[in-house]
Amino acid sequence: MSQKTWGGRFSGDTDARVEAFTESISIDKRLYRHDIIASQAHARMLAEVGLLAPEEADRIAATLDEIGAEIEAGKMEYRIALEDIHTHIERALIARLGDVGRKLHTARSRNDQVITDVKLWVRDAIDDLDGLLADVQKSFIGSAEREEGVMLPGYTHLQRAQPVLAAHYFLAYVEKFQRDRERLADCRKRVNVLPLGTAALAGSSLPIDRESVRAKLGFDSVARNSLDVSSDRDFLIEFVFDLSMIAIHLSGWAEEWVIWSTTEFNFLELPDAFCTGSSIMPHKKNPDVLELTRGKAGRVIGSLQQLLILVKGLPLAYNRDLQEDKWSLFDAFDTVAGCLSVAAPLVAQTKLRREVIAGRLEDGFLDATTLMEFFIAHGVPMRSAHEAVGRLVKKCEEGRTRLADLPTAAFEEACPGSGDRIRSVLGVANAVAAFKSYGSTAPSEVERQLREWKSRIEG
Ligand code: ARG
Repeated sequence: MSQKTWGGRFSGDTDARVEAFTESISIDKRLYRHDIIASQAHARMLAEVGLLAPEEADRIAATLDEIGAEIEAGKMEYRIALEDIHTHIERALIARLGDVGRKLHTARSRNDQVITDVKLWVRDAIDDLDGLLADVQKSFIGSAEREEGVMLPGYTHLQRAQPVLAAHYFLAYVEKFQRDRERLADCRKRVNVLPLGTAALAGSSLPIDRESVRAKLGFDSVARNSLDVSSDRDFLIEFVFDLSMIAIHLSGWAEEWVIWSTTEFNFLELPDAFCTGSSIMPHKKNPDVLELTRGKAGRVIGSLQQLLILVKGLPLAYNRDLQEDKWSLFDAFDTVAGCLSVAAPLVAQTKLRREVIAGRLEDGFLDATTLMEFFIAHGVPMRSAHEAVGRLVKKCEEGRTRLADLPTAAFEEACPGSGDRIRSVLGVANAVAAFKSYGSTAPSEVERQLREWKSRIEG
């Protein structure tokens, strides 16, 4: 008879090529801790409802701990013939406990077991990511504090647009990572619904108590429909989407800092410890960490694609295709966690080159839009004010000068009677000081938001 857990109906051995083709132990061994915790809760419940004697559940739980310690110590011998981590652990249990071990899988299928383990794993992963994201936010908030009064050119289309305070700039990323944290917290709600007890696809005729397992494993609720559970990978795709959004935020930031660290921009002093050199060009200091962060985002998005394509067109309920979800899941998590771990110190140790930024801050008409708003505030219709400032900018470009260099009289045509008051919005410092609206780069607004973030993150 076959050695498989499903050996009863089979006569010969499985072809070795099939074992190599169908195994998942190479990837799912990292679920071992969660598999053990879930099995212990399951065994305790079986004892509560009389399907195991209390001492049998005790022995199973204790032996599972021993098996866990052995795996931890690298002593488990993995064999592709045993397919996956779930079978390895159950086999190890049976090897020690005989018939008692053979009772553990009562009212359970690997279908609900796998999803339970994965959900427990994703729940931990979400909690880890939340901490990593908070660390990155702390770094950005630290930079906002350090560079608070510094003014930067703000860009649209990568063309100079309007001035912003550096603190406003850094806090923009804090907002993005906050949304990432909220998305993960929301995803966690759907992760934290217990699958175990739905068995293969239809539930069980045995008197199991799913509520008890839910409480033991800290799930918020029990999944309602066994057919749904057996096929459901929504939570996992959602999680990898959330990882993709984090990767996209990191990638955009990395691209920006790659540009900002060029000789052409020269806005940043990147820490040596987070850069690499060239084997041939002695002067090079390359932003490889940022480039790899940008590049690795492609892997994460690729994982999301793979998962979406994997589940499309699968009929109810479990299909073996679903085993293919783990490579993408783990790779996406590892990649994003790795990126976040280097982003936090890199941000903390990067400084703005204030003199370089200040030296070129008056280039690019960063004050033009505030000038237009001055005209509007003095009764000029918006479209007329826009045209008038456009003409003034054209004049400056022809004369290679700045708006602030024009004589006061030059503004009189567009805004009669403005006189010297026009000076209050010309030049970048004045333009920044003129902002007022909620959420703008107005110094008082930025200061308030910085204070709020500090107490929120540290408090
Ligand atoms: N190794 C499989 C996986 O990870 C276990 C599930 C097997 N279920 C089944 N009905 N063959 O998905």
